[in-house]
Amino acid sequence: MRIRPIRGSLAPHNPMTFDFDTPVQRAGTDSQKWQKYAGRDVLPLWVADMDFPSPPAIVAALRRRADHAVFGYARPVKSQVDAVVAAMESRYGWRIDPAWLVWLPGLVVGLNVTAQAFAQPGDEVLSLAPVYPPFMSAPKNSGRVSVTAPFALRDGAWTIDWDALGRAVTPRTKLFFLCNPHNPLARVWRRDELSRLAEFCLRHNLLLCSDEIHCDLILDPALPHIPTGTLGTEIAQRTITLMAPSKTYNVPGLGTSFAIIPDAALRAQFVRATAGIVAEVNALGYAACEAAYRDSEPWRQALLAYLRGNRDHLLDFVARELPGMRVEAPIEATYLAWLNVSALGLADPVAHFETHGIGLSDGANFGSPKGTHVRLNFGCPCATLTTALRRMQSALPLR
Ligand SMILES: Cc1ncc(COP(=O)(O)O)c(C=O)c1O
Repeated sequence: MRIRPIRGSLAPHNPMTFDFDTPVQRAGTDSQKWQKYAGRDVLPLWVADMDFPSPPAIVAALRRRADHAVFGYARPVKSQVDAVVAAMESRYGWRIDPAWLVWLPGLVVGLNVTAQAFAQPGDEVLSLAPVYPPFMSAPKNSGRVSVTAPFALRDGAWTIDWDALGRAVTPRTKLFFLCNPHNPLARVWRRDELSRLAEFCLRHNLLLCSDEIHCDLILDPALPHIPTGTLGTEIAQRTITLMAPSKTYNVPGLGTSFAIIPDAALRAQFVRATAGIVAEVNALGYAACEAAYRDSEPWRQALLAYLRGNRDHLLDFVARELPGMRVEAPIEATYLAWLNVSALGLADPVAHFETHGIGLSDGANFGSPKGTHVRLNFGCPCATLTTALRRMQSALPLR
């Protein structure tokens, strides 16, 4: 597909020296996102990877590692572990012991392992919905039960409905899965909310699994990411934090993630549940991870500026040009927009928009009623986003 640059008020915005504007041809490659619509004129704005090249420092590190030309079973070297430890301290003031790290090939793996390690068949895993679908499917995969409590929309912000959450706990609830920041609501949790959640977990004797894959993608500069593991010693000893460079630096295809588990007994139990099932992280992934955390901060800052521009463009376009569609709350983090499309009265909004050339994620998969929400990935060149938004405009049944 040829993507034409847009001029005038919708001109691409490039804040620094990195090029986020030039589309990279991904159609016809190994991209899962683009393969879904192979041979069709549909712009894929669904699965959460970005259409941008990764930071130059990562590409250089991968080249260097490839030049070594031997790809045996890998273990992280000290500089790779140091890069993660240093990033936790400099970004969040979180002093982690390298021994707390358990490397994983993905966060979804981490969610599944957590459910198996710390709940028995029939036990319940609680989360807040709508939420990233594996939060609900991971428990079910191993015969555990997923229970969700709904978020509440209050004064234009997604908030935790504490009464609903309290009502959802039963004697069989063993785990709470938190998405921090939240996909798909793009919400950054505030300290008071996180502290209350921690107290809630401690009161009900729940282990807390905190998926923080989007933590380096906070768009609102006034909002800090607060790792759940920094809230206090007691909750830290009951927390499994899952993180990765994958979303931020656009390397999810390299399968490199980690759990941070301060408590030795929990960590041992988690590692036992991985035995013989979970694959080792690969050599290229470790190299990319080090270059991401240690050498790619200027790129990340430029990316955030670019994503802010895309977000503002999207919000403006939706408000002015897409009647019947609404973004109900600020997009504080991630490159994912949660759009309320219920006023369009479409039985299957995703199918409808696909026939008009835009590939979105179905809110029903995240636990919303069918027909009410879609998720749009704006991690792409501004010109691609603009083309998609114009297609959505021409797809509106109310026009
Ligand atoms: C909250 C959240 N967790 C996990 C993942 C996927 O992680 P992985 O690819 O490492 O399994 C995503 C991807 O969109 C996500 O949004």
